[in-house]
Amino acid sequence: MSNNLLKGKKGIITGALDNKSIAWKVAEKCVEQGAEIILSNAPIALRMGTINELAEKTNAKIIACDVTNNEDVTGLIDSAKEEFGGKFDFMLHSIGMSLNVRKGRDYTDLNYDWTHKTFDISALSFHKMLQACYKADALNEWGSVLGLTYIAAQRVFPDYNEMAESKALLESIARSFGFHYGKYRNVRVNTISQSPTLTTAGSGVKGFDDFVSYAQKMSPLGNADAESCANYCISLFSDLSKMVTMQNLFHDGGFSFTGVSNEVLR
Ligand SMILES: NC(=O)c1ccc[n+]([C@@H]2O[C@H](COP(=O)([O-])OP(=O)(O)OC[C@H]3O[C@@H](n4cnc5c(N)ncnc54)[C@H](O)[C@@H]3O)[C@@H](O)[C@H]2O)c1
Repeated sequence: MSNNLLKGKKGIITGALDNKSIAWKVAEKCVEQGAEIILSNAPIALRMGTINELAEKTNAKIIACDVTNNEDVTGLIDSAKEEFGGKFDFMLHSIGMSLNVRKGRDYTDLNYDWTHKTFDISALSFHKMLQACYKADALNEWGSVLGLTYIAAQRVFPDYNEMAESKALLESIARSFGFHYGKYRNVRVNTISQSPTLTTAGSGVKGFDDFVSYAQKMSPLGNADAESCANYCISLFSDLSKMVTMQNLFHDGGFSFTGVSNEVLR
C-alpha cells in the first residue's frame, strides 16, 4: 500500500545482497512510497548476490562501494549527487560482517586484524558515509540517515562475538554525528535495533535458529520481520518523524524490555 510518504525524495540504500536482506525490503518500500533510489554494495556482493534483479524492479542505478576503501565511499556520495542531479534526502547503512564469526573464532580468542576489519566494515563505515555526505554537503535539510543495529550493543549475547562492540560503536556514531549534522543541516541520524532476522548476515551467527525461537518467545508481539523493519525505516525517512534524532530505536516486538515470559519458563 502506498501513501507516497517519500514522494519527491531521493536516497542511497546499501547492503541489499539478496531478497532476504533487510535492505532489499527497504529498497522496495522506498520506491513503493514514491522515492528514487541508488543501490550500493561491495563489488564482491554485486558479483555473488542478486542485486541486479532489485535494480531492475526499483529502476535504480547500482554504485559499487567497498566501505573499507575511503575513496570508494567518497566516490559513492559524489556519484550519487551527480546521478540525482543534486542533493539527496536519505541513506540506509545496512552493512555488517564479522571475520571472527565467519571463521569460527571465539570472543576469548579474537584475531585482532580481523577484529579491526570487522569494526571498519560494520561501524566505522557509518562514520565514513556520514562524513563524506557532510563534507560534500550532499544531504538536504531535514534529511534522514539510518543504521541497523542489534541489542548485543547493550546486553551480552556470547556468540555475537566482536559484532557486539561494532554495534555499540555504530550506535555511538549515530549519536555523535547526529549532533553535528543536526546543527549543520537539521539532518537526523538514528539506529534501528532489529529483531534477529533470517538473512545471510544473521544466519552466520552460531545457533542462530535456536536464538530466533528464543527471541520469538521473549517478544510479546513476536519477532519483527524484515518487511516490518522496512516499514519502520520508511517512517523514519519520511517527514512524519522530523524531530527524532540521535536515538537507538528498538524494533523488536518488545524483546528489549521483557524480563521473562511464560513461554521461556516452560
Ligand atoms: N539479520 C539479523 O538478525 C539482524 C539483526 C539486527 C541487525 N542486523 C543488521 O542489519 C544489517 C543488514 O544485515 P542483513 O541481516 O540484512 O544481512 P545481509 O547479509 O543481507 O546484509 C549485510 C550486507 O553487508 C554488505 N557488506 C559486507 N561487507 C561490505 C563491505 N566491505 N562494503 C560494503 N558492503 C558490505 C554485504 O554485501 C551485505 O549486503 C547489518 O548491519 C546487520 O548487522 C541484522
